[in-house]
Amino acid sequence: MQKIIEMAEILENEEIQDSIFRMTLSLPEISRMAVSGQFINIYTGLGENILPRPISINEIDAIEGNIIVTYQVVGKGTDFFSKCPVGCELKVVGPLGNGFDLSKKYEKNIIVGGGIGIPPLVELCKHIEGRKFVFLGAKSKPIYEDDFRNLGAEVFICSDDGNTGMKGNVVELLNDIQPEGDMLFSCGPKIMLKYVSKWAAENNIPAQISLEERMACGIGACVGCTVKIQKKGDSDWQNLKVCKDGPVFMSDEVIWDD
Ligand SMILES: Cc1cc2nc3c(=O)[nH]c(=O)nc-3n(C[C@H](O)[C@H](O)[C@H](O)COP(=O)(O)OP(=O)(O)OC[C@H]3O[C@@H](n4cnc5c(N)ncnc54)[C@H](O)[C@@H]3O)c2cc1C
Ligand code: FES
Repeated sequence: MQKIIEMAEILENEEIQDSIFRMTLSLPEISRMAVSGQFINIYTGLGENILPRPISINEIDAIEGNIIVTYQVVGKGTDFFSKCPVGCELKVVGPLGNGFDLSKKYEKNIIVGGGIGIPPLVELCKHIEGRKFVFLGAKSKPIYEDDFRNLGAEVFICSDDGNTGMKGNVVELLNDIQPEGDMLFSCGPKIMLKYVSKWAAENNIPAQISLEERMACGIGACVGCTVKIQKKGDSDWQNLKVCKDGPVFMSDEVIWDD
């Protein structure tokens, strides 16, 4: 798919939770092409040799020409973003990767998000027509709970410290609620995705999961982000690139390294 380079004006950059920021970028071209589950590469402006940072698309407003991203400050790139004022411009490449496959409609959809993996599921939720059961987990308080409710989802919450919802992780929450589903969609830390995939397999529910790997180029030109995938019908696994072939994969095709 065609990738666009755009200079994005920052329209909003607000801290919504401790060290988590929601940033609205004016990206008329990229917003017209983007779909849920894709990501953008944002350059830091810290020097030409610094690689761009991959950040998932949280929401797309193709009419206004905007894309919203939500990022957590974890190092110098994201710290730089958090200090950029409204009106400042950032170089962006996108849309990147393959998003969720929404070509089929399902009656019962399960959406599972963990921590900073929750944002791309908001855009996904807008495009799902059947019943939506959303399971959100975080250390203390999952973000965007109300956004999912406003999109008509039935939302279940958990947290590691018990501050909001059930004390525990999303797999414990899934086991507690035992939702029925025709398709499961998930994004979150790799370890969470591994156990969500296991839960989906045990319950005979196909699952699309959005993987995250450390990335260099972000466009398939290096081997910085490979993951072992065994496609249905193939006799062996192959190394695929999360940035180009993913980030969304069918969970039963992923070979998890222990
Ligand atoms: C496809 C994709 C989508 C992503 N979407 C989001 C998002 O929506 N919101 C968000 O906050 N972050 C997201 N990330 C992670 C984000 O890219 C990294 O947190 C960011 O690049 C770190 O840059 P930094 O310079 O601030 O930190 P660095 O100084 O580069 O690293 C700081 C710490 O973050 C860890 N880290 C760096 N990159 C990654 C990575 N790719 N995955 C896991 N840990 C990493 C490092 O191991 C280190 O401990 C995504 C990553 C990928 C690959
Ligand atoms: S980051 Fe270079 S191939 Fe994926």
